[in-house]
Amino acid sequence: MTLPDDMGSVGAACRRVLTTADPRAKLMAARAAARGWRLGRLVFRFDVAMPDRPARPDVPELLPPNGMPRRGRIGSERGRIAMLHALAHIEFVAIDLAFDLIGRFGEAFPASFVDDWMQVGSEEAMHFAMLDRRLRQAGSYYGALPAHDGLWQAAGDTAHDPLARLAIVPMVLEARALDITPATAARFEEAGDLVSARILRRIMADEICHVAAGTKWFRHGANRKCINPVTHYRMLVERHFCSGLKPPFNDSARRQAGLTRDFYDALAT
Ligand SMILES: [Fe+2]
Ligand SMILES: [Fe+2]
Repeated sequence: MTLPDDMGSVGAACRRVLTTADPRAKLMAARAAARGWRLGRLVFRFDVAMPDRPARPDVPELLPPNGMPRRGRIGSERGRIAMLHALAHIEFVAIDLAFDLIGRFGEAFPASFVDDWMQVGSEEAMHFAMLDRRLRQAGSYYGALPAHDGLWQAAGDTAHDPLARLAIVPMVLEARALDITPATAARFEEAGDLVSARILRRIMADEICHVAAGTKWFRHGANRKCINPVTHYRMLVERHFCSGLKPPFNDSARRQAGLTRDFYDALAT
């Protein structure tokens, strides 16, 4: 069987992830792209456009962030499921964010950029799978509750500029997850759900690497343009993330990721 010419490019593999709506199929497409790249089966070529919005399944219903019902406490069964569902949705969108980053901006970077973000994308797929499995163990599933549509907004706002995308997605949003995940894991533990707490800590360890990849490639891009990474980051965050950064920050996890306080201290609200 001969494959169409574009089957083997990085760009086409990324586009396939984004245009796949069904969660299980998207997961498979993400794994296939990462594996294809690792095995040298994809050409470093970006010959197809990424969609403005990724394909989404019929459920979950997507609501504006301020239209979401109150979640309730993790101590209650309803609250615990709602939190797992919210986290699963974040990971589901994170799959698209990783592959959109590669497919949209990969051409401007060396091949090791693709190495890093393929790894990130396959880890986001694994995070989603772990949370979806946990939801099913709790008698629910991804799609059973509404989810908020705020996360992709950050992608749309920064679709024109790789440095803006890196500043906002890994270095603001994923860094924010480093700040809040330890407390969320502790709340699962207090509620007696040690399995979910363990999943969150596992995810947290990976997310430090995602923030590190963001910071590394942001510095790379800024240095290549001979601009100061710290002042440029602050300018981009002020422009694209007007609400400011909410302390307290997990300085030690951020530092492990190379995101030092000079980047974000001055942006705290
Ligand atoms: Fe993740
Ligand atoms: Fe991540």
